Amino acid sequence: MLKFNSNGRFGILLFGDLHEYFDYADSAKFKDMQKLMNAALDMYRPDLCVLLGDTFNTANCKDDPEGFKRGVKDICAPILSRNIPVCAIMGNHEHDAGCDAEVIKAYGEIENMTMRCDGVPGKADYRELIYSHDGKKPLACLWFLDSNNLCDDPNISVYDWVHEDQIEWFEKESAALKELNGGNPMPSYIFQHIPVPEEYKLLRKAKLPELPWSVEGFGKRKGTHYVKARGTVGYLGEGPAAPDYNSGQFDAWKRAGGVKAAFFGHDHLNDFSGFVDGIFLAQHKTAGFRAYTDGCHSCVRYVELSERNPLRFRQELRHFKEFGLKSESLGPIFKKITDRESMAFHAAGYGISALVSAGALAYFIKKLRK
Ligand SMILES: [Fe+2]
Ligand SMILES: [Fe+2]
Repeated sequence: MLKFNSNGRFGILLFGDLHEYFDYADSAKFKDMQKLMNAALDMYRPDLCVLLGDTFNTANCKDDPEGFKRGVKDICAPILSRNIPVCAIMGNHEHDAGCDAEVIKAYGEIENMTMRCDGVPGKADYRELIYSHDGKKPLACLWFLDSNNLCDDPNISVYDWVHEDQIEWFEKESAALKELNGGNPMPSYIFQHIPVPEEYKLLRKAKLPELPWSVEGFGKRKGTHYVKARGTVGYLGEGPAAPDYNSGQFDAWKRAGGVKAAFFGHDHLNDFSGFVDGIFLAQHKTAGFRAYTDGCHSCVRYVELSERNPLRFRQELRHFKEFGLKSESLGPIFKKITDRESMAFHAAGYGISALVSAGALAYFIKKLRK
């Protein structure tokens, strides 16, 4: 049972897109990821950790489910050794190996870890209630949803989405929780891997002078460049890989009433967030060093709910470099140049230095000729 702690708080620490392989043991990248995990766990002392999907690059556990479980336990050792519960969700890479049932079963069998199918058979959709500190009353609901893999028809969308029958389950459960909560919508927080298309409402089309620091849209939005819209905070490092098809999931959240925030993985460079129609949407970047990253900006996100008012929450991001950690896996340049902004800054610095040096050289050559 998840409960608000004695301070009336419930802290959730998010780890997105670790993309570990099964050769993790001696890797400097694996060690960097665990350094970040340990530092974040020491700082925030969360009540729950969430793995936002794509935890493994290919989660093949059909042939060796015990090996898969050992891998998950090794990756999550800093969390599990502290006896902190973990809720895991399916990313497209967990689906990639084509053995969903085995993957879901394996995650669910690890002590202190949860993944299960509460709704549509075969889909890893489930919910957890957070109870008052005395365990008497459910005060909030955390939803862990399965956003599937690639779309069957690439002409419709590259990536898949949370399907209509899954949304029906969410709506049915939300209605039951409303009844349980005396007719008021249950304060709800969503965790899923692939974002909803409404995430693009946090962006706007770039104007011509903004193109150098804009990002190109993904899928059918290719060819259109975006920058953050007013009110959106955080880093936009790539076109969000949301589906092109809208299954109506976001509208279902609005109808349900209690949804306050949704946290997504999938994009490795984006950590922007903001409000769309009163719901906080947060894109969470990778906490790992395996897949494409922006180096020292790998990060965790901490979300804290308050027992006094579970409709309110606070959240913050913290990057690897902000913990004061030293990387073993990043080269000397990438330790400094870690995102597009610092890359542009460094490029401008080197460009100016090159121009000054060339000017000086030309001046001296001219002098020598005289
Ligand atoms: Fe990923
Ligand atoms: Fe993904």
